[in-house]
Amino acid sequence: MVKILVTGSNGLLGQKIVKRCVKQGIPFIATSKGPNRNPDCPEDHYVDVDLCRFDAVNRLVLKEQPTAIIHTAALTNVDYCELNPEECHLVNVLATKALYEAAKIVGAHFELLSTDFVFDGEKGNYSETDEVNPLSIYAQSKVDAENLLLKDPNNTDWSVARTIIVYGTGFGLSRSNMILWALEALPKGETMKLVNDQFRAPTWADDLAYGCVEIVLRKQTGIFHLSGPVTRPIDAIVEEVGKALGLENLNIETISSQTLNQAAKRPPKTGFDLSKAEKLLDYHPKDIRETIPLLEDDLVYYR
Ligand SMILES: NC(=O)c1ccc[n+]([C@@H]2O[C@H](COP(=O)([O-])OP(=O)(O)OC[C@H]3O[C@@H](n4cnc5c(N)ncnc54)[C@H](OP(=O)(O)O)[C@@H]3O)[C@@H](O)[C@H]2O)c1
Repeated sequence: MVKILVTGSNGLLGQKIVKRCVKQGIPFIATSKGPNRNPDCPEDHYVDVDLCRFDAVNRLVLKEQPTAIIHTAALTNVDYCELNPEECHLVNVLATKALYEAAKIVGAHFELLSTDFVFDGEKGNYSETDEVNPLSIYAQSKVDAENLLLKDPNNTDWSVARTIIVYGTGFGLSRSNMILWALEALPKGETMKLVNDQFRAPTWADDLAYGCVEIVLRKQTGIFHLSGPVTRPIDAIVEEVGKALGLENLNIETISSQTLNQAAKRPPKTGFDLSKAEKLLDYHPKDIRETIPLLEDDLVYYR
């Protein structure tokens, strides 16, 4: 019998994994920092734990005895991580290590969420076997976390789910996402300044949640690339949102990454080869033009 421990359940992906578990009747326990902000998660399925309190992490895992842990919690703001490297290492690497060690004690499968930023973005269309080359503190922290699993000589019961720009709706999220921003700004005619020299395959959070849960249900191990199906420049991604909304005149100002002055360096071109996930997980993600109508419906519910 499966029992999933979901970390980061107040976050965008964590909320969707909880929703999927509730819908599919999969036993689960959810954890995040502070009160439960996800009304889809029953209070008796929620535990408030700061993952940087390693003793509390250990107690939680030993008490709940999950058969699998899906570890979505992380410091996810790339520029914040660049400016706060010690905090980034504590949350993204050391807390992951504590959780992974606890998982091994109870014999639970450990699934780590990771990112396209592990790559340098020179090649694009990355497969699971491509070499990593992180360009930022955040990306390095994810490579370090991955290596806790990849380089463990004593355990193979783990998976790494790498993803790209996750978007969707959620309750009380601590940060927004590009597509939600576009859904708000474009109909009002607001100007959006967007780069045309970074290529990404944005991922609908619901599709990603499906992939993450299927890894557990199908007892898969190893690295999986789970993103949206189409890689485009960022300005073209937002143009697609405009098209899906039926808008004709979009106020998109195209700029180059250099003018942004962001603290963390970004890989120019990512995007994933999804063939492994298609074959082993039956993962067939939706493109933006299919998800926008679903998101518009969702927004009414989440407001
Ligand atoms: N979003 C993307 O575009 C993207 C792209 C590639 C990879 N990923 C990876 O995918 C995963 C999920 O992303 P997401 O978009 O769902 O992130 P998110 O919305 O930022 O959620 C992360 C969650 O982790 C929680 N958290 C942070 N520090 C914690 C701590 N010390 N103890 C307990 N909980 C803590 C946060 O709590 P608060 O809500 O209280 O802040 C938040 O709920 C992450 O591992 C991320 O690195 C995301």
